[in-house]
Amino acid sequence: MKLFHVDSSAKREHSNSRALSRQFIDTLRRQGVDVEVDYLDVTVDTPAHVTEAFAIATYRAESERTADMKTTLAASDALCRRLLEADALLFAMPMYNWSMPSVFKAFIDNVTRTGLTYKYSADGQIIGQLSRQKVLFLTTRGADLRAGSPFASMDALTPALKASFGFIGVGEPTFVDAQPLQFSDPQSRAEALVRAQHELADVAAQWAVWERERIAGKELIDA
Ligand SMILES: Cc1cc2nc3c(=O)[nH]c(=O)nc-3n(C[C@H](O)[C@H](O)[C@H](O)COP(=O)(O)O)c2cc1C
Repeated sequence: MKLFHVDSSAKREHSNSRALSRQFIDTLRRQGVDVEVDYLDVTVDTPAHVTEAFAIATYRAESERTADMKTTLAASDALCRRLLEADALLFAMPMYNWSMPSVFKAFIDNVTRTGLTYKYSADGQIIGQLSRQKVLFLTTRGADLRAGSPFASMDALTPALKASFGFIGVGEPTFVDAQPLQFSDPQSRAEALVRAQHELADVAAQWAVWERERIAGKELIDA
């Protein structure tokens, strides 16, 4: 399985989202999945913010782009290719101010590309191109935003991720939201981590089954 793994926490060794995402990959491997990781840390290799040149070039038909426009789009093209070539996508991120880290938003701005991650059908329908990939969003939150909590209505992260990735074809993403990991008592924080680890183990088991079926299907086609 080719897994594109994106980390986006500003923290390093103290980051829960980074630790949980590593644990998820280890569990996948223990389930017998042959995982080939393509890794991107968007806090280190931060995709460029949208510039005027990008805003113009991205909506210009490929055949009409100048050499400068192609240069402007090259890094974004490369990120789109990494997404499209992956079998599975793992996006790990903390919640910052009720939504996503700005570096991850910059990533989304780079991978939402007409002609690459979404295309138009003959009758003008938008067809997202990431419908074949398994997708896991692993989010960490300081507060508890689960249903029933006073903060439940503040979750601007989940709908933003669903909308952005739904547009480029991700139909049924999985969410594992570890919460509350900061603004709570030690016991609640410890329980939240264990809850997330159990959910991640379940997802890893599901992905292992899916991967075995995918490989079996491929072998059947190749035979
Ligand atoms: C700048 C900043 C903003 C944050 N905003 C929120 C927030 O709006 N809601 C929330 O529940 N937690 C918020 N947190 C807490 C983090 O989401 C939480 O600590 C999370 O576990 C961090 O993940 P990490 O350990 O991978 O960095 C914020 C943390 C930082 C540093």
